[in-house]
Amino acid sequence: MKSLIAGNWKMNGLGASAAEIEALIAQFDGSAPDDRDILICPPATLVNRFASAYSDEGFLIGGQDCHAKSAGAHTGDISAAMLADAGAAYVIVGHSERRADHGESDADVRAKAEAAFGAGLTPIICVGEMEADRTAGRALDIVGAQLDGSLPETAEDFVIAYEPVWAIGTGLTPTIADIDEMHDFIRGRTRADIRILYGGSVKPGNAKEILAVNNVNGALVGGASLKAADFYPIIMAAPGA
Ligand code: PGA
Repeated sequence: MKSLIAGNWKMNGLGASAAEIEALIAQFDGSAPDDRDILICPPATLVNRFASAYSDEGFLIGGQDCHAKSAGAHTGDISAAMLADAGAAYVIVGHSERRADHGESDADVRAKAEAAFGAGLTPIICVGEMEADRTAGRALDIVGAQLDGSLPETAEDFVIAYEPVWAIGTGLTPTIADIDEMHDFIRGRTRADIRILYGGSVKPGNAKEILAVNNVNGALVGGASLKAADFYPIIMAAPGA
């Protein structure tokens, strides 16, 4: 299975941020390695520009969210078909920031994942427990319930990202034993060929250890994906296929 290293730029990035991708390409000596998948999910405004400029350089481009409907009266929203039309290959759905800021339920996330697959995109479905759930020993139950509610019923191809909410943007990470336990648990709930990413404060200093864990098939990287100097060593820390 090829590792997938995905950068989630969140609400960061202007046209000038293309310089960071150019810097990655320079580090790669021209084109991205093909023994791992490298995905950049910039803000929607940059999807088409980046897909046009960098798909041929070996980069996959993705969206950060999509609407469950293909078109209609939903001001400000973007459909999966629009992202695909702009050149995206993937889309993140159910990120904890969307679940918290926009009240997205597991059912919403499942509908988005199915819409994404229907439009030819691979959805990356995010799950993860709150700190209180982890402390109370409920992390597996919470994530199990999110998987039951969010995983698509019809889509054949998708990615799962385990992102403990308390680890996102905090510099905190679960222990390697806890990541191992959770990814093993998630593997038991899905097929052998589905990639399971870890996300939450992945940095150059911890990437190798995390990416070596059984059933960790890549990473979803937020803050450290914004700078080529941080993202490059994380990409290279993934085991090659
Ligand atoms: P972080 O974010 O790497 O900045 O913790 C990860 C994410 O939210 O996908």
